[in-house]
Amino acid sequence: MSKKITDKVTWVGKIDWELQHFHGDELSTFRGSSYNAYLIRDEKNVLIDTVWGPYDREFVSRLKEEIDLKDIDYIIMNHNESDHSGALPEIMREIPDTPIYCTKMGETIIRGMYHQDWNFVNVKTGDTLNIGESTLTFVEAKFLHWPDTMFTYMDSDKILFSNDGFGEHFACEELFDYQANLDDVYSEAMKYYANILNPFNTFVKKKLAEVLAMNLPLEYVCPSHGIVWHDHIQDIIDRYQKWCDAYQEDQITIVYDTMWNATRHMAEAIAEGIRETSPETRVLVLSMTKSDKNDILTEMFRSKGVLVGSPTINNGFSYATAGILEMAKGLKFKGKKAAAFGSYGWSGEAAKKITAELADAGFEIVADGQRVKWAPDQDALEACREYGRAFAKAF
Ligand code: FEO
Repeated sequence: MSKKITDKVTWVGKIDWELQHFHGDELSTFRGSSYNAYLIRDEKNVLIDTVWGPYDREFVSRLKEEIDLKDIDYIIMNHNESDHSGALPEIMREIPDTPIYCTKMGETIIRGMYHQDWNFVNVKTGDTLNIGESTLTFVEAKFLHWPDTMFTYMDSDKILFSNDGFGEHFACEELFDYQANLDDVYSEAMKYYANILNPFNTFVKKKLAEVLAMNLPLEYVCPSHGIVWHDHIQDIIDRYQKWCDAYQEDQITIVYDTMWNATRHMAEAIAEGIRETSPETRVLVLSMTKSDKNDILTEMFRSKGVLVGSPTINNGFSYATAGILEMAKGLKFKGKKAAAFGSYGWSGEAAKKITAELADAGFEIVADGQRVKWAPDQDALEACREYGRAFAKAF
């Protein structure tokens, strides 16, 4: 069902209540998502973005209830990842000559994915499209989070269509921020930022400054996922400004994998030591195999310090540890202190190898890895507590 935002603008997207995984299995989306597309009616009619491919027929059929497709004058594609461009082939089958406004890279991506010679109009920052009472202004937003991304600003209704920026994977019937459960929304927005946008912090910071300097009046910010911002625009902008700037809270996160519980006992003893020394610090102990990987990465994102533990397995560390370390490296966290730990039986390389991986991922290493041979006895557990105390004192 479509939903009205203003007299001129209608949400025509798709709520995906079932989505649990995004980007293959790279990102968990336990609260579902939405693919937000918008229809602007003025003297000219404009469709902004589409939805993910599996919903293409449903999307086009519902769009036809809103408007005769032949009355759509322009399609604007702010970003062309499959979750937004997936329904383009279905709609273009019916209106093949309709101009598609996108960045030059947007055209490259659409051509690369759909192999169609559609009527592309390349736009760049500052280009405008007059559609009657409203003028649409395009603002390239390269690497927020793909190289093709752009924003579109509609002056008459003071709306910024920001695509993935300011969005979150969150399925809900409520369209506006003032209707939704904001705790859930902000939690998902942070998870989205940590897992998708964090590698592009420099671009986010620059783009925020550029857009704010434009002094655009904003009544609505309409992202391509989740709720539409209206009452809390400044709040989400403030959060983005903090998140893009080596964000951290007074939190230390300990993530571990374990085979026979020795490394788990080490993790718990290290946590006790941190709590003794720094009782005000929030300390989280998360199993890499029992907790969701993206929730772990979100907790790492909000931490000032991270400890990673694994038993030594075949002269290295566990596959779950390898996965988390690889993902953390890709997310390019900045300004976080780290150390490693792990139990072993004979060769004992894990702690040293994890330390090297953490350093390679950009963490500041504050101690050599802590190791325990076989199962930790009381002395070994006290050594782990002391390791935790020393780690807490590094801040
Ligand atoms: Fe929501 Fe980058 O696609």
